Amino acid sequence: MHAVTELFRQTFNEEPLLVQSPGRINLLGEHTDYNEGFVLPAAIDKFAYVAIQKRPDDRVVLIASDLNEKFETTLRDIQPVKSGWCNYILGVAYQFISGGYQLGGFNLILSSNIPVGAGLSSSAAVSCASAYAMNTLFHCGVDRLTLARFAQAAEHTFAGVQCGIMDQFASLFGKANHVIRLDCRSMDYEYVPLLSSGYEWILVDSGVKHSLAASEYNQRRSECMKGVDRIAQKYPYVKSLRDASLQQVNECLAEDEILNRRCRYVVEENVRVTEACQDLLKGDMLSFGKKMIQTHRGLQHLYEVSCAELDFLVDTAINLHGVAGSRMMGGGFGGCTLNLVEAGLAEQFIHQISEAYSRFAKKEPAIYRVKITDGAKQLVS
Ligand code: GLA
Repeated sequence: MHAVTELFRQTFNEEPLLVQSPGRINLLGEHTDYNEGFVLPAAIDKFAYVAIQKRPDDRVVLIASDLNEKFETTLRDIQPVKSGWCNYILGVAYQFISGGYQLGGFNLILSSNIPVGAGLSSSAAVSCASAYAMNTLFHCGVDRLTLARFAQAAEHTFAGVQCGIMDQFASLFGKANHVIRLDCRSMDYEYVPLLSSGYEWILVDSGVKHSLAASEYNQRRSECMKGVDRIAQKYPYVKSLRDASLQQVNECLAEDEILNRRCRYVVEENVRVTEACQDLLKGDMLSFGKKMIQTHRGLQHLYEVSCAELDFLVDTAINLHGVAGSRMMGGGFGGCTLNLVEAGLAEQFIHQISEAYSRFAKKEPAIYRVKITDGAKQLVS
């Protein structure tokens, strides 16, 4: 029996409904989702677990078992609160309620083995697990895409981060051994098989959690919007950076160095993702890896969301034997690098990168060797 189920039985003396929703990696396409571009995420075998059951009243009782914290409110009084983890659950409940769905009171226990602040979308996994669980428990009949939108809206309105849809989509739509090629404008997606036989995706955690990450993230988003406004003055059909060419960026943003850099990165990254999909389909991991390095340089110098620790990890990795590609992953300002490493040299890579980083940062990096897995589902508890 799952530990969360066990705890639920002990605490509430009832049998819960149990849901898991995964974290994600993103192979390529960073900061493109909120610019209506392309992304290449995949769900990983690290999960947020939610055990839930109805209550006879309208109370909402939330427990984070890993933190030993409890929070209580009523359905009527749901609003953003100070404590971080509650917002990802309350924000989702709020979406159901304002969408006209009939929720009743519930008890919920949350547990997760996705490292927090590592850029693996631990918060999206909590929102998605909660959304999936509420949907199932109260028979709301909401489809997966709408659940992803509820989870994204929770992040916007209750956690204050104007994130794109990538993380929530990956957590709900993941498929074992496949990456998702998602068009964040049309929401069309396809599963691309990961033919990277002979290679392994290895995450190296810088251990850095930048307190400015959320505000810098929102700032990047608004810089992109400003860039679009300027370009649209001359080219009205440009509705997002998805529609813009490099030439238009250079022409319309010649006077503004910062906006130019931000927009140039996004336009280039969209092209890279499209080309990289071909690499994946051919199993040409060397070409894919080169694009990862180009992405890192773009995030470092143009989008400016990297940090010294991430740059050190990438610069070190690409000089090690058997490394095809390396880059910072996720929103930036800390978290993990994603490394594409020849499988036979994985152990050696881990040893060498750990040693180098320990010398540099005076702390040993956590290493995650992940498997690509399915999206959110109910478990037999
Ligand atoms: C965070 C956001 C995503 C996406 C990435 C950057 O993970 O939640 O929507 O924008 O950053 O690619």
